[in-house]
Amino acid sequence: MTEKIINLKNEAIGNILEAKDEKELERLRILYLGRSGKINQLTKELPKLAANEKAEAGRLLNETKRAIESALSNQLSAICSQLPAQKEWLDVTAPGIKPEIGHLHLLTEVIREISSVFEKIGFIRVRHPEAEWEWYSFEGLNMPATHPARDDFESFFVDSKPNSKLGRMVLTPHTSNGQLREMERIPPPIRMINIARCHRPNWDITHTPTFHQFEGLVVDRGINITHLKGVTDYFALNFFGPGRKTRLRPFHFQFTEPSFEVDINCPICLGKGCRVCKSGWHELGGAGIVHPTVLRNGGLDPAVYSGFAFGWGVERTTMMKYSLNDIRPLYESDLRLIYQF
Ligand code: PHE
Repeated sequence: MTEKIINLKNEAIGNILEAKDEKELERLRILYLGRSGKINQLTKELPKLAANEKAEAGRLLNETKRAIESALSNQLSAICSQLPAQKEWLDVTAPGIKPEIGHLHLLTEVIREISSVFEKIGFIRVRHPEAEWEWYSFEGLNMPATHPARDDFESFFVDSKPNSKLGRMVLTPHTSNGQLREMERIPPPIRMINIARCHRPNWDITHTPTFHQFEGLVVDRGINITHLKGVTDYFALNFFGPGRKTRLRPFHFQFTEPSFEVDINCPICLGKGCRVCKSGWHELGGAGIVHPTVLRNGGLDPAVYSGFAFGWGVERTTMMKYSLNDIRPLYESDLRLIYQF
């Protein structure tokens, strides 16, 4: 009997090692371990044996059964690991698949950076309406409906009932509505940075119909142009980097007097003039000393208080910092651009 069992074990293991596929393995499993398989057949013979032989044979049969089981499972993994990858298998030691991690959009990052640069010198970021009464966007800023200056701020009007005092509802074409809003919100000293969406009907490589501006406003006693220049230079250095500074160029806005356009020196030649910039300077945006009428419209006495304001484009500033020559990709969700920042 012992010999029979050992032969069976050798035969079974030999066959299993030669099996080439799962079907063959299954056939062998039934042949040896099945209900009427060879192991069970031998088990049935046990009672016929003498007591001393019985125990030994039983032990050997159990061991053989376990050996066949483990040979079957080893051979099964050997077969599976040679199969092409689409067959299901699991290698718990294989390195994982790294999930793609998203990040904030470049414009959101720039908006946060602008806020933090200004917060360091005491400006507080606020948000004023993006759908606004005409008064705050125009009339209150010295721009009556018939004034030609309005042409620069061509606007989208909301199809809703006008307010008898404040006029029609408009999608803000600039963030300067925040000036009057802030004067109404708190008394001086005012140090505001209002970053909001603006709308104008333009669409080309430097304009999208929706864009953002950041509007700075400082109102206190004794504020003058030197404070404005200090802040614009501070921003140039801290947002754009070493060697960058601004210059004020005379300009005209209805709501500031005097008014300026703020230029920043070229990052390549730092203001000397080169092939890229020609003049040495790039335009950043508008600024000026708050017009007395605007202070009065905001409820402040121009004999006591004075202030400066500036309003620059977030997209334009972003394009200047990261050397982008087209604004539109910033709104096209193209991952090839987004993943670069
Ligand atoms: N609101 C002006 C614009 O959109 C910019 C500006 C803001 C100018 C504040 C002067 C003072 O062009």
